[in-house]
Amino acid sequence: MQKIIEELAAQVDASLAGVTSSESLAAFWQEYLSKNGKVPGLMKQLRTVPKEERPAAGKIINEFKGKVEAEYEAAAARIKAEELAARNTAEAVDITLPAKLRNAGSLHPITLVKQEIIDIFAGMGFAVYEAPEIDDDAHNFTRLNVPKDHPARDMQDTFYLSGDLLLRTQTSNGQIRAMDEMRPPIKILSPGRVFRSDSDATHSPMFHQMEGLVVDKGITLCDLQGMLDKLVQALFGEGTRTRLRPSYFPFTEPSVEVDVSCFECGGCGCSLCKGTGWIEVLGGGVVNRRVLANCNIDPDEYSGFAFGIGIERIAMLKYGINNMGLLFENDLRFLKQFQE
Ligand code: DAH
Repeated sequence: MQKIIEELAAQVDASLAGVTSSESLAAFWQEYLSKNGKVPGLMKQLRTVPKEERPAAGKIINEFKGKVEAEYEAAAARIKAEELAARNTAEAVDITLPAKLRNAGSLHPITLVKQEIIDIFAGMGFAVYEAPEIDDDAHNFTRLNVPKDHPARDMQDTFYLSGDLLLRTQTSNGQIRAMDEMRPPIKILSPGRVFRSDSDATHSPMFHQMEGLVVDKGITLCDLQGMLDKLVQALFGEGTRTRLRPSYFPFTEPSVEVDVSCFECGGCGCSLCKGTGWIEVLGGGVVNRRVLANCNIDPDEYSGFAFGIGIERIAMLKYGINNMGLLFENDLRFLKQFQE
């Protein structure tokens, strides 16, 4: 038995020396250590050993088996380490390579201003209410107290579509739609695109407005000015003041044009405010009683204020943009300047 084991030990050593991969390691285990392998097979040969020598022979076989198993474990650990090292080398990542440039987009200045105004008014309890860009004459004009022959229609050259439809000339159509849908108290902002057949250095046939409407009991022009003060201070700086000038809009009575103190010169007069110290930013007023009545809201019980802001104008003032075309050309060199 001693001799048989010695021969097998020599075989084991030779085989182990040839183990270089998990495949050959598995083959080694199969040949020597599996249930039908050569090492467990020694036990079967115990039968040929004289009875009195069997306990000693059994012990030797067990010791040999333990030794081969230990050698197998050691080889397995070595192979595992070698294979991991090889894989690490093969899959190595060079972290010194410069990263790929990612071109992140940025929000358009019109979007930035729109969101900023919405944020400011959301803080005062306003909800956003979107009205359609294609609407009918009644919502865009008639029910806003601009009847068919009204001269105010000439101020807004309209793109007419088929039938009674048109491209809205103002976000004021949102006032009528909101008052048809809701009952007071109403507090909405209606942003969006508007269209006029008008195009030159300071006019684009498509531009953006933000309509505001509040209808409740006891609303006055003071409420409008108070909220606009908050708006312009947030947009243009703490010290900014507002000034209301009498004006005319068919849907408000009284109507006002709102100026802000020039944030460039602080009111002393500069090229931005054309020496006046004031810059016009929006129109508004107390909702005309007829408009409330047109929407089945009792003007003796409720009153309201409304305003309309030109978003392009605010963006140009806020960011110092001197050419409106820049806002529509989508030149990346211009747009990239608004990256945060
Ligand atoms: N819709 C007007 C325009 O486009 C702006 C405006 C003025 C809206 C006064 C209002 C308002 O709601 O009260 O010129």
